[in-house]
Amino acid sequence: MSTKTTLGIFGLGTVGTGVVALLRDNPQFDIRAISVRDRGKTRDLDFSHFEMNQDPFKLADDPGIEILVEVAGGIDPAYEVVKRAIANGKHIVTANKELIAKHGPELFALANQHNVTIFFEAAVGGGIPLISTLQRGLQANRVSRVAGIVNGTTNYILTKMEREQKTFADALAEAQAAGYAEADPTDDIEGRDVVYKIAILSSLAFQAPIEVDKIYRQGITQITDLDIKLAREFGYRLKMIGLAQRGESDALDVRVHPMLIPVGHPLAGVDGVNNAIFISGSAVGEIMLMGPGAGRYPTASAVVGDIINIASAVKLPDFAQYFQLPISSNVSEVMPIGESENGYYIRLETHDSPGVIGHLGSAFGTHGVSLHSFTQRGVTEDGTATIVLLTHQVKEKQLQAALEEITAHPTTKQISVVLRVLS
Ligand SMILES: NC(=O)c1ccc[n+]([C@@H]2O[C@H](COP(=O)([O-])OP(=O)(O)OC[C@H]3O[C@@H](n4cnc5c(N)ncnc54)[C@H](OP(=O)(O)O)[C@@H]3O)[C@@H](O)[C@H]2O)c1
Repeated sequence: MSTKTTLGIFGLGTVGTGVVALLRDNPQFDIRAISVRDRGKTRDLDFSHFEMNQDPFKLADDPGIEILVEVAGGIDPAYEVVKRAIANGKHIVTANKELIAKHGPELFALANQHNVTIFFEAAVGGGIPLISTLQRGLQANRVSRVAGIVNGTTNYILTKMEREQKTFADALAEAQAAGYAEADPTDDIEGRDVVYKIAILSSLAFQAPIEVDKIYRQGITQITDLDIKLAREFGYRLKMIGLAQRGESDALDVRVHPMLIPVGHPLAGVDGVNNAIFISGSAVGEIMLMGPGAGRYPTASAVVGDIINIASAVKLPDFAQYFQLPISSNVSEVMPIGESENGYYIRLETHDSPGVIGHLGSAFGTHGVSLHSFTQRGVTEDGTATIVLLTHQVKEKQLQAALEEITAHPTTKQISVVLRVLS
């Protein structure tokens, strides 16, 4: 009987190619078959000696395959293929954040039932060993907060805007030209990608799943180079953040939005396509893991690490139980954004008329919002004044009430952007 661990690889794109390249000369593994959408496609490497098919369910049904490696992405058909493979007794290694964020609890339960495991190190933070850190390395801790830069595309765009004074549109175009942003960048710039990732991190940190649809999300499209410049003048850098922390009630405070990060905070120094995750734990204190959050070999490093971990343990009795996730089956509530507390950065355009400042002060005062800093940027020819304010910590619903009052006032042209400040 062969002592090799047998694999089926579903997907041969950016990540799958890296996985096969790392494993092809490893005598411990036998890649039985690879599924792709289009067998005729020209590939970066020569895969002609592998059995290739266009039906991933064949991998799920093949009794000769021990581990199904899902690096295709998306829900359809990955969800059904993975379920079928689990039901057939196969272990799963996946890089698919959407699959784990949306269907993780159901898949973990199914895996427990069939005594197999699901590893997903590459699903968040690419090559950074983050999932295993939360799952195993930090077991002695009560984690109170996870805050991460987990989308390289938005971090690249914001870095370009700051360092090279680019507009959002120019920085996005550069990210696309460099291959960091998709032709349709919506999932990245509107924060959807980060929602999946923070949902996964939250479920590991707080050991309870949450529903992705409940997570508040704000993208980076409203941010201008002026905001980045002003934030810097106030002592902050702008970053797209996935945040998950314990709230006052049982509900978890989980959200995705750009934030002003104090320049001295470790997350403020994370530039370009890098990812970083800042974790606060009761015993360890504060740690930050940083590194390449995407790319062929960094991501393949995480996938192959999972494969090797499973292969080295798979022959042990009850091995799957050892790797069972300590995640409750009860879904945790997510705190409504109005209940969250933040400092705020607000940029608004007003008519340049007497009494504007007094009115703003009174509207904020009425709703208990206390101001930290204030600046006015010139007045345009059409009599528009740009005013930028920073507030102290306040409940979001109080801020929103003040902003409603300000919006209704005749001297207000528009509230252009409201951003939160990390404390
Ligand atoms: N790219 C990264 O840096 C990165 C980082 C972290 C996590 N991930 C995750 O890794 C996964 C894969 O990403 P990727 O960038 O490698 O994607 P990709 O380059 O688009 O590759 C997807 C692969 O899956 C195959 N595929 C898709 N649908 C299929 C179907 N119905 N039947 C058979 N094969 C199918 C495609 O076949 P064809 O080649 O024939 O089209 C392709 O080989 C995703 O879940 C992604 O979120 C990626």
